[in-house]
Amino acid sequence: MFDPITPSTNANGQVDFTFDDKNVSAASGTTIAAALLAADQIWFRETPTSGQQRGPFCMMGACYDCLVQIDGVSVQACMTPVTEGLQVNRVPFSLPKEGKRS
Ligand code: FES
Repeated sequence: MFDPITPSTNANGQVDFTFDDKNVSAASGTTIAAALLAADQIWFRETPTSGQQRGPFCMMGACYDCLVQIDGVSVQACMTPVTEGLQVNRVPFSLPKEGKRS
């Protein structure tokens, strides 16, 4: 009915990538968020003010609770398709330089 977002990258139609150095496989065309949820990974980042864990909520690019880092750049996991060899990391807790926001 629908075509995948990206074409298959290996013979199995699976894409292999890492999440915090753990191997994850997903069907080609799957978003990072969908692939990680299917792999029982439910939180992707920690809030910058309190360190609370956050995971995908809207799955349509509106809430930004699914932010992950790829090569040090934060991206929305629900809007980014997995690709072979991608190295995805959780966004770590960090206070702003001025300290906690009021
Ligand atoms: S889950 Fe809401 S922006 Fe990705």
